[in-house]
Amino acid sequence: MTIEPNSPVTIPFGDLSRQYRSIAGDIDAAIKRVLDRGWFILGEEVESFEREFAAYVGVRHAVGVGSGTEAIHLALIAAGVSPGDEVATAANTCVPTVSAITFAGAAPALVDVCERSFNMDPSKLEAAITSRTKAILPVHLYGQAADLDPILEIGRRRGIPVIEDVAQGHGATYRGKKLGAYGLAAAFSFYPSKNLGAFGDGGAVVTDDDEIADRLRRLRNYGEERRYFHTTKGFNSRLDEIQAAVLRVKLERLEDWNSRRREIAAIYNQGITNPRILKPAEMESGTHNYHLYVVRCERRDDLRTHLGSMGVGSLIHYPIPVHLQKAYSELGQARGSFPISERCSDEVLSLPMFPELSDDEALQVVNAVNSF
Ligand SMILES: Cc1ncc(COP(=O)(O)O)c(C=O)c1O
Repeated sequence: MTIEPNSPVTIPFGDLSRQYRSIAGDIDAAIKRVLDRGWFILGEEVESFEREFAAYVGVRHAVGVGSGTEAIHLALIAAGVSPGDEVATAANTCVPTVSAITFAGAAPALVDVCERSFNMDPSKLEAAITSRTKAILPVHLYGQAADLDPILEIGRRRGIPVIEDVAQGHGATYRGKKLGAYGLAAAFSFYPSKNLGAFGDGGAVVTDDDEIADRLRRLRNYGEERRYFHTTKGFNSRLDEIQAAVLRVKLERLEDWNSRRREIAAIYNQGITNPRILKPAEMESGTHNYHLYVVRCERRDDLRTHLGSMGVGSLIHYPIPVHLQKAYSELGQARGSFPISERCSDEVLSLPMFPELSDDEALQVVNAVNSF
């Protein structure tokens, strides 16, 4: 799967500098506002962003934290997950979903995914639930909703809260509501390359539950109830003022950027006709935000080499499933445990996808894929 070091990549997989250039004036002014104010942690920008982001998702509260991983970690703790518990989540996910579970002291109970949506298969969820399961953590992978209705129904019937991992799902919808508005709480990442990305690490937990929001505000800030009065043991995990100011500028453009991603996906969907390539399926239950445009191909590594030779960047999300990672060998789940997730890891390839990609570039990607 080596790409020749000298092959000129003319269409990058992603390019955040193009986005900055398109909004530099507003971004520079927002950062300067923070520098002039001289207040960097838990101030006006974070408060305003939390209000604006909660309104965008359609929930009562957003609590800014240090990263998406910490958003999941703190949401699980706020929902009552403690050492020795189990959390059911998708086997086909980014490793930090599971890092957050283990940092809360719990064990992940992995659930295989649906072949076409790449997301948790609700029909396999109950088999993963035990008396120790204290949360269900569906992941909206690549920017498309997991099938939430049956997952929420199982959670309700078994008395287990659902916490959504929306790290890749900003602005995507399920049955008319934004992702993040369904679970007891939901975790977002603002990692720079996300559909809503900061200029560093950042994250947020959203919730309609006043008590959970209150707990999260204490958990992220050393367990403080008010200055120097600590009513719980906590962490240091706060979205900072500069990142919040950047995110406020970008939040205003998020809907337009997501629409542009869908236009690029439409160019790919229409143009790619190579029978070796399986294009991503859009579920009828909602709108995809195309955080990633992920195709499948049995000869994925050859496809990637071919694209590289034609100057088209690509990435694999993700080449090794969590249960086969060395760090999680303790799960004792050998190859064969989650066959669909394993096949995804062998076959998926993400094509260039970012709002500033031009139509011409998207058509060049189509040509490169069709000529494989
Ligand atoms: C599905 C998923 N969950 C969790 C995370 C963790 O987010 P962060 O990188 O902000 O910690 C990410 C992003 O990397 C992700 O894609």
